[in-house]
Amino acid sequence: MDNKNFEKLVIEAEKAMNNAYAPYSNFRVGAAIMAADGRIFTGCNVENSSFGLSICAERSAVFNAVLNGCKKFVALAVFTDTEEVTEPCGACRQVLSEFCDDLDIILATPHKQKTEKLSDIFPSGFMLKK
Ligand code: THU
Repeated sequence: MDNKNFEKLVIEAEKAMNNAYAPYSNFRVGAAIMAADGRIFTGCNVENSSFGLSICAERSAVFNAVLNGCKKFVALAVFTDTEEVTEPCGACRQVLSEFCDDLDIILATPHKQKTEKLSDIFPSGFMLKK
């Protein structure tokens, strides 16, 4: 994917971050995932009084895409208003790997950007084989 599309994805992830519900951690995360057909779906973290029920921005973006009929992705942007970029947690890496052969990931803050591949940060995910 080219830089222009990366930039668009980062802008959508920043917008999504502004909808995060994170009163317990005060750590707001936005994600935007681009499907193979070019459509973009966003997600944010949504926390709960019962902490374990909280969901990360990356998984909420994937579930938003799937419920809209998209199951193949090419790129993901994760945005946080922090000094350092935020890496996707292990649970989100596993969920992303279900739907991607490989995925370009852009981690962004207002000051920094880092790109990586899902295959580099999550090389041997679980796949159910019977
Ligand atoms: N969080 C995400 O949304 N994505 C990640 O990759 C890491 C953590 C959220 C979950 C929780 O609402 C807050 O950040 C602090 O852990």
